[in-house]
Amino acid sequence: MDLFNVYPLVNITPVKALGATLWDENGQDYLDFYGGHAVISIGHSHPHYVRRISEQLNQIGFYSNSVQIPIQTELAQKLGDVSGYPDYSLFLCNSGAEANENALKLASFHTGKKHVIAFKGAFHGRTSGAVAATDNAKIVAPFNAGHGISFVGYDLAEVERVMQSEEVCAVIIEPIQGVGGIIMPSDEFLQGLATLCKTHGVVLIADEVQSGYGRSGRFFAHQHAGIQPDIISVAKGMGNGFPIGGILIAPELKASYGLLGTTFGGNHLACAAALAVLEVIEQESLIAHADELGAFYGPS
Ligand SMILES: Cc1ncc(COP(=O)(O)O)c(C=O)c1O
Repeated sequence: MDLFNVYPLVNITPVKALGATLWDENGQDYLDFYGGHAVISIGHSHPHYVRRISEQLNQIGFYSNSVQIPIQTELAQKLGDVSGYPDYSLFLCNSGAEANENALKLASFHTGKKHVIAFKGAFHGRTSGAVAATDNAKIVAPFNAGHGISFVGYDLAEVERVMQSEEVCAVIIEPIQGVGGIIMPSDEFLQGLATLCKTHGVVLIADEVQSGYGRSGRFFAHQHAGIQPDIISVAKGMGNGFPIGGILIAPELKASYGLLGTTFGGNHLACAAALAVLEVIEQESLIAHADELGAFYGPS
């Protein structure tokens, strides 16, 4: 069997990685500025991360979500504290697309509506609802295209017109567009958007899959604008390469049993990886470091 073609490949084969360095099969080293598409948040093979996951695997690696999994609670508390959202609840899944899929679904359950506002240039993943909210017609299959989505610019009047004319359940926005080309809506736009969502009873979803986990110099990029979305999607840097995603959910959206579910989401190993990431972010003051470097190199 051959592999299904997915991405055009960069011509290197990393076989070993430590910190910010990759080595190929010939021992050639590379400085890894890419981090596997915004995934490696604390460096490759960080000793604390390796120890945490190994210890967990020696205890228990997986059991289903129908039993108590104390390390999930530990992760929810730690993420609440580090991110500044201690009163939100956490649903755990396996990827960014899945996080957004569940965010959209929860918004629709909560409001009883189904239209979604997304933004020109947005990328939210490749599963059905997430890809429909992605502004790239090439990756939307006919099967995915039945969702009601309006793509708008960073224009509050345009957003409000859609809210007035459609049964809108959610606005989904990347506080910094990643795949779209590092595009940043202004703080004033994000603040106005949050106000419009409150006024019209629309759930505001911040997709922080790429912009979150300290990369912008705050834990979440939307925190630069001082807004509080109703749902925040996370993945990528959350597990530093171990597949894990999640949504942080505002107290007023608390789910009843059966709305959301997953087999693998929040397994013991993934939680150990995610806890190790948060511990290293804290111990090594990585958010302040990103802020400092951002001020030095970033846009003025
Ligand atoms: C903003 C954003 N949301 C969602 C996703 C999808 O994440 P995943 O590939 O883990 O499904 C991506 C991936 O690039 C992303 O950049």
